[in-house]
Amino acid sequence: MDVADEKHPFADPGLPPHEHRIQDIDERAARRSERTVALLFTVSMLATIGFIASYVAIPVDKNVYIWTLGHISALNFALGVTLGIALFCIGAGAVHWARTLMSDVEVADERHPIEAAPEVRAKVLADFKQGAEESQLGRRKLIRNTMFGALALVPLSGVVLLRDLGPLPETKLRHTLWKKGTLLVNQNTDEPLRASDIAVGSLTFCKPEGLDEHDHGFQNEIAKAALMIIRLHPEDIKDKQELEWSHEGIVAYSKICTHVGCPISLYEQQTHHVLCPCHQSTFDLSDGGRVIFGPAGHALPQLRIGVNDEGYLEALGDFEEPVGPAFWERG
Ligand code: FES
Repeated sequence: MDVADEKHPFADPGLPPHEHRIQDIDERAARRSERTVALLFTVSMLATIGFIASYVAIPVDKNVYIWTLGHISALNFALGVTLGIALFCIGAGAVHWARTLMSDVEVADERHPIEAAPEVRAKVLADFKQGAEESQLGRRKLIRNTMFGALALVPLSGVVLLRDLGPLPETKLRHTLWKKGTLLVNQNTDEPLRASDIAVGSLTFCKPEGLDEHDHGFQNEIAKAALMIIRLHPEDIKDKQELEWSHEGIVAYSKICTHVGCPISLYEQQTHHVLCPCHQSTFDLSDGGRVIFGPAGHALPQLRIGVNDEGYLEALGDFEEPVGPAFWERG
């Protein structure tokens, strides 16, 4: 161990005594590590095969419901999971291999001094002094102080402008005005809707009871809460959850396109498809609102509805997933 002196004020403590890993002294432990690494690499191979199989076998338009994620593309989900496992296992295998089986010899690498040579420092100092003299920075204290003040303050203008980004949305984008017991109100007539008034094949646009278009914040709220109501023959509903969340074939879906948020307005009665006019995303309202065409990457969120004692349609809670463009749910 080196001792401290004037040039090196801190004594070098040296390396602690080398401790052999169990794998260095026990061949069976080394073999166990070898098998673990091989297992991780094998799982990676299987996941890659799973990735290719998913790509070939899963239809592009198939959706699955995943808790916390909502309705998402089964293909994207399978590709993401299998590729994630494949990459993770390669990384984990390599780390385990390096930590347990690769060479465990400690090597000291001498650090080189990072300070510049004395002559370089002297030159930089001389240049600095010369610059300061030529600019008269030392003599013109008023200029020097005001310049420092100006340079210190100017970045504040950028900070102040951040305020224009508005308050943070927090969880506002995740919730709408729908809650248990809120009546569904016809957006055109302002009348609550009776289940018995909804004919098979009709399309009605709804808003939550109590939301008036003269209200402050109406646009923000209706942009999240706007609903489409259609009535199907219950036997035409293909999705089991959709049937459970409907009332005698009446289903309520968000009117906000999951692509970039246009209001959906075109309903094709025979096929139960709705079309977004902005980029032609098409959703099947008889099959969980899944996307059957266009750029939207996410099924339309469905609202669970029922009727109250007087026969009026009411919400049974808020949407279970954020409405509108799918990127909000990643925030
Ligand atoms: S906003 Fe609906 S398809 Fe683009």
